[in-house]
Amino acid sequence: MENDIQNVLFTEDQIRHKVEELGETISRDFEGRNPLVICVLKGAFIFMADLVKRMTIPLDIDFMAVSSYGQATKSSGVVKIIKDLDVPVEGRNVLIVEDIIDSGLTLSYLIDVLERRNACSVSIVTLFDKPARRSVDLEPEYKGFTLPDEFIVGYGLDFAEKYRNLPYIGILKPEVYTRP
Ligand code: PRP
Ligand code: MN
Ligand code: MG
Repeated sequence: MENDIQNVLFTEDQIRHKVEELGETISRDFEGRNPLVICVLKGAFIFMADLVKRMTIPLDIDFMAVSSYGQATKSSGVVKIIKDLDVPVEGRNVLIVEDIIDSGLTLSYLIDVLERRNACSVSIVTLFDKPARRSVDLEPEYKGFTLPDEFIVGYGLDFAEKYRNLPYIGILKPEVYTRP
């Protein structure tokens, strides 16, 4: 698995520091608002776990599973809800936790769903952002790192469901995704 990585883009330490910062900022901003923190499965599962440990305020968590990529390295644009929330969002201050925003299609769809369910507010935190690839107008309230247009894996992010368990962020060798 490690052999498939061309180079490490962000180390465990760099990620940890960024997540600590985000946790502090978000805790300040959401003080007294009892946010509903929503993890967008599967990619955000590790970031979500690390982030909420750095949030020092009362909050609720829930999970939503959506998929747009499937086995491809590019978004298909078709978003499917695979697992919906367990709790109502009406009147809640929602914080959506994403690992990466690429075209923005996944999140713009989710924001739309949550607003139609009458959330009080919907904010976004993403660990990684690829603004160059955006196809809809969408700017997250909180972001970790801005990325060049390269296919990254690790810390929850996959290629064909693999590499999510790498503790760092790596760039895949191109030969891996051109493999037959
Ligand atoms: C990836 C990533 C984001 C989304 C970003 O999820 O985790 O959720 O794509 O792309 P977009 O901005 O172009 O919509 P994916 O669909 O691969 O599912 P996964 O999280 O289960 O890997
Ligand atoms: Mn995802
Ligand atoms: Mg994926």
